[in-house]
Amino acid sequence: VSTSPGTDSADVFRRSWRAYEKFVTHNWMCHREVYAEVRRVAGRYQKDSLTIADFGCGDAACTAAALSDLPVSRFIGVDRVPALLDSAGERFRSRGCNVTLLEADLLSAVSQPPAEKVDLLLAAFSVHHLRSAEKQQFFTDARAWLKPGGRLVLIDLLTHSSDSRRQYLDRFARFLVRDCRAMSPDERQLVRDHMQSFDFPEPLPEWSRLLQTAGWNAPRLAFRDRRGFYMVLISAPAGSSV
Ligand SMILES: C[S@@+](CC[C@H](N)C(=O)[O-])C[C@H]1O[C@@H](n2cnc3c(N)ncnc32)[C@H](O)[C@@H]1O
Repeated sequence: VSTSPGTDSADVFRRSWRAYEKFVTHNWMCHREVYAEVRRVAGRYQKDSLTIADFGCGDAACTAAALSDLPVSRFIGVDRVPALLDSAGERFRSRGCNVTLLEADLLSAVSQPPAEKVDLLLAAFSVHHLRSAEKQQFFTDARAWLKPGGRLVLIDLLTHSSDSRRQYLDRFARFLVRDCRAMSPDERQLVRDHMQSFDFPEPLPEWSRLLQTAGWNAPRLAFRDRRGFYMVLISAPAGSSV
């Protein structure tokens, strides 16, 4: 594995999805807990069809598994990595969904909302790749994707309020060494280099401020992991109830 951080925030996933899959398999990023929240929110729609857009979907393995017992009729997947998008598309096509795949940057994709809006907009472990002003733009444009009654599920990196970005990255680097034993030294280095170049976590008040400034309701904190790395926020466009 070459450990250079690459040219963009998707590069590490393009080159070594297998290393990322270790995080999922070992639940080091709490995929079980955070996707249980996705299932919980999606399950509230008592409808015979559910539509979802997944920004930074990767291979959408967790999204598909979380929604496996729900009547998903339409899936829109956004990612920069074509091979991952293909897998994501296959998972939903094989269950009869209408599938749209957008090989695009998060920001450019979100600026072009679909003619038919969706019930759920999921962004799982992707928006932290954007800088603050870009996050703000992402959330501003994302409102136009939702049907009335629709929800945003934001799963992302959360710093302690007292953490600087540097402290978060250092804490995570210690966690990688101490707890992620199934990673090779090269894989750990790859993760550290990617995070150093492309990961911009925020504290809860800042995530909340970014959302509200972009026209969303004050988000509900649905999950926060005990190590203090991740969160799930649920919100809806301002004026609707969460
Ligand atoms: C950490 S993975 C998350 C995958 C999946 N959502 C999950 O919950 O496990 C981040 C995904 O976002 C994609 N990605 C990162 N930066 C992106 C960008 N600027 N535009 C589009 N996709 C991006 C990566 O290719 C990768 O598939």
